[in-house]
Amino acid sequence: MSIIKLLNKKLQRTLFTTPSHNQHAIFSKEYEPFFKHDYSELEGFDNLSDPKNAILMAQGKVSDILGTKRSFFVTQGATTAMLASMKALINPGDRVLVARNVHKSVFNGLILTAGIVDWFLPETNSKWGIYTKIDTEKLKQTLEIGDYKVFIMTSPTYEGIVSDIDEISNICAMHGVYLIVDEAHGSLYNFSDNLPKTAIQLGADVSINSLHKTAGALNQSAILNVSTKLDVDIHLFQKALNILHTTSPSYPILANIEACISYLNSKAGRKEIDDLIVNIEQFKKELTRFGIEFYESDDHDPTKILLRKEGVSGVDLSNTLFEQFDIEDEMNNDISALFLTGIGTTKLKLDKLKNALRKVPTNPSFIPYEMDFQPFPLVKVQPVDTFNRDFYFVNNNDALLKISNKLVMPYPPGIGLLYPGEAIQRWHLKYLGNDVEIFKE
Ligand SMILES: Cc1ncc(COP(=O)(O)O)c(C=O)c1O
Repeated sequence: MSIIKLLNKKLQRTLFTTPSHNQHAIFSKEYEPFFKHDYSELEGFDNLSDPKNAILMAQGKVSDILGTKRSFFVTQGATTAMLASMKALINPGDRVLVARNVHKSVFNGLILTAGIVDWFLPETNSKWGIYTKIDTEKLKQTLEIGDYKVFIMTSPTYEGIVSDIDEISNICAMHGVYLIVDEAHGSLYNFSDNLPKTAIQLGADVSINSLHKTAGALNQSAILNVSTKLDVDIHLFQKALNILHTTSPSYPILANIEACISYLNSKAGRKEIDDLIVNIEQFKKELTRFGIEFYESDDHDPTKILLRKEGVSGVDLSNTLFEQFDIEDEMNNDISALFLTGIGTTKLKLDKLKNALRKVPTNPSFIPYEMDFQPFPLVKVQPVDTFNRDFYFVNNNDALLKISNKLVMPYPPGIGLLYPGEAIQRWHLKYLGNDVEIFKE
């Protein structure tokens, strides 16, 4: 029986269990729908930390669809899925190679696992101000000289750049390195021939999907996928999840993870994805006549709309859309703006954006920006040793080459410009304000 059927069954039981609300919104009827399915792990409702019935069956169904050894449901987002996969594969002192454009959860995972980090800089595109893909030659050379246990990377990137996971997984396998791919923004890939293949299909050992980003699921819905080829005891993943996951997982979220994957795998779900791709293609075609340029390349996910408009910065474009058209983008910078699409992005919504974009005013004397990327990070103190350290403040003028206690990170996208434990380079000073937190040596 699916999780939602289980939740819909009329329970005659009198519950003296958590939660106390008896599936009713006590404080206001307005909230009633949120409470209807909010059960705890009742007798017969299975248990996320040791699933044997409905949850195990739902996870099994998803695992069959995604072609994995196990697909664990996570009700605390891709963040917890990443932390758990790192805990399962990394022991204290293991060397970990990490692409610099990862989400901040990876740095936090290094604190929790005591893995020793080396950073890897992906390629960049300064015209668009974005990280692009992993250079596989550079990766090969890096793995040849370092004794790494795990390589962690993001694909697709926030902006939709997909790396060559097929080649990367071969390189990692050749060097005995486990590959974890943060595929938070690529949850639709299994369900359309017009999208890239999934990281698991292309040989990753572990991948993480964040279903609430583009797949139409409730916030915090995520899946941790483990490949059939991974030679690590699968129970380590359950054990890691049990350390990090709440003991009161949300049943509505669990049920919606199951329903989300069933929908994506259905004829209707697949059609919605393919229609979305066609609608976006059309949207782009119509807008290029109005001075709007889209990021496009062979390795770009067509559902990610990254654009710039001649004569206006990404920030100003975003502000105008917000203030004059009530449209909010996902992310913007001096150069471009990113519009997130997915399940739920109707043609009507795209039309509204299209009409607004045409009307955003421009300035003929505007000079486009070129992005100045962060320098290669100089790690002086490993993440595990940064957590609870004495620090003091120095003036910005005196901060050069001191070791930062501060995390500098615009959010979104949650990619660190400077992490605690790294030497402050000239490039960082402009982000640090007057008083800079630095470690006591
Ligand atoms: C690439 C990437 N990975 C992981 C996460 C974390 O996802 P969640 O919000 O599901 O915890 C994000 C969130 O922005 C992200 O962009």
